[in-house]
Amino acid sequence: MSEFKGKTLVLSGGTRGIGRAIITKFAQNGANIAFTYNSNEDEAKAIAAEFEQTYKIKARYYKLDILEPETYKGVFEAIDADFETVDFFISNAIISGRPVVGGFAPFMRLKPKGLNNIYTATVLAFVIGAQEAAKRMEKSGGGAIVAISSTGNLVHTENYAGHGTSKAALEIMVKYAAFELASKNIRVNALSGGPIDTDALRKFPNYEEMKAATIARTPLGRMGQAGDLAGGALFLCSKDSYWINAQTIIVDGGSSFT
Ligand SMILES: NC(=O)c1ccc[n+]([C@@H]2O[C@H](COP(=O)([O-])OP(=O)(O)OC[C@H]3O[C@@H](n4cnc5c(N)ncnc54)[C@H](OP(=O)(O)O)[C@@H]3O)[C@@H](O)[C@H]2O)c1
Repeated sequence: MSEFKGKTLVLSGGTRGIGRAIITKFAQNGANIAFTYNSNEDEAKAIAAEFEQTYKIKARYYKLDILEPETYKGVFEAIDADFETVDFFISNAIISGRPVVGGFAPFMRLKPKGLNNIYTATVLAFVIGAQEAAKRMEKSGGGAIVAISSTGNLVHTENYAGHGTSKAALEIMVKYAAFELASKNIRVNALSGGPIDTDALRKFPNYEEMKAATIARTPLGRMGQAGDLAGGALFLCSKDSYWINAQTIIVDGGSSFT
C-alpha cells in the first residue's frame, strides 16, 4: 500500500501549473488533498470533483490570498474541520499580473510596492502557512514541508530581480524553519525549478525568446513542464527522503550549470 494513503497534503495554488501537477501526483499516490485557489473557484471545484472520482481520495479547496498571509489561519481552521491530520504542506502559490508591477521589472524600474508584494507572497506566506501546518504536524507526530523555489536566484533571468531575491530569502527561511522544527520530526526543504512552461512564465513579455534560450541551455534539450517538479515534491515528502533536511533540491534538467 502507498505510504501516502490516508495522509493529507495541504498545498497553496493548486488550480494551475506546478501546483496542479503536484496535487495530481499526490492524489495518484492515494493522499487526500486540501488545496487553495485565488481566482479560479470553478476550476478548483472541478479539480476536487475529478480527484475524488478518479483517485477515490478526499479533496477540498479553499480560498486564499497570499498577499494577506494571516488569512492562512482561517484556511487551516477550515481544513481542520475537513481533515483529521495535516501531514505535508507545500507552499507553491505565486502572484502575477498587477500585484507584481514594479517588482517584475528591470533593476532601474523596481519599486518598493511591487517588491514588497513579491516578498509577502513568497516568504511571508511561506512563514505563516508553514507555522500553521507545523502546529498540526506536531500533534500527529511529524510531517514534511516543501517550499517551491526557482533557479532565478542562481541564473540571471530578465526582470526577475524581485522574484529571484525573494526565492533566495525563501530558501534561507526554509533552513531556519528546518532547524527549529526537526525536534518535532518535521523536515523542511525547498524544491527549486528551472523555467517551467506555465501561465506564470507565459506572462513574461519576452516569453518566446526566453523559451528558446532555456531550451538551448538545457542539457536535456527541452523546456521544463509543470509535471517535472511533481516527482521531486513527492520524494521530499516520502520516507525515502528521511535524511534530507534544510536543503534546496534543484530540478532543472541541468540548465543552471550551463
Ligand atoms: N513557471 C516557472 O518557470 C517556475 C519555475 C520554477 C519555480 N516556479 C515556482 O512554482 C510555483 C508555481 O508557479 P506556476 O508557474 O505553476 O504558477 P501559475 O501557473 O501562475 O499558478 C499560480 C497559482 O497560484 C495561485 N495564485 C495566484 N495569485 C494568488 C494569490 N494572490 N493568492 C493565492 N494564490 C494565488 C493561482 O490560483 P488561481 O488560479 O485561483 O488564480 C494558481 O493556482 C511558484 O512558487 C513559482 O515561483 C515556477
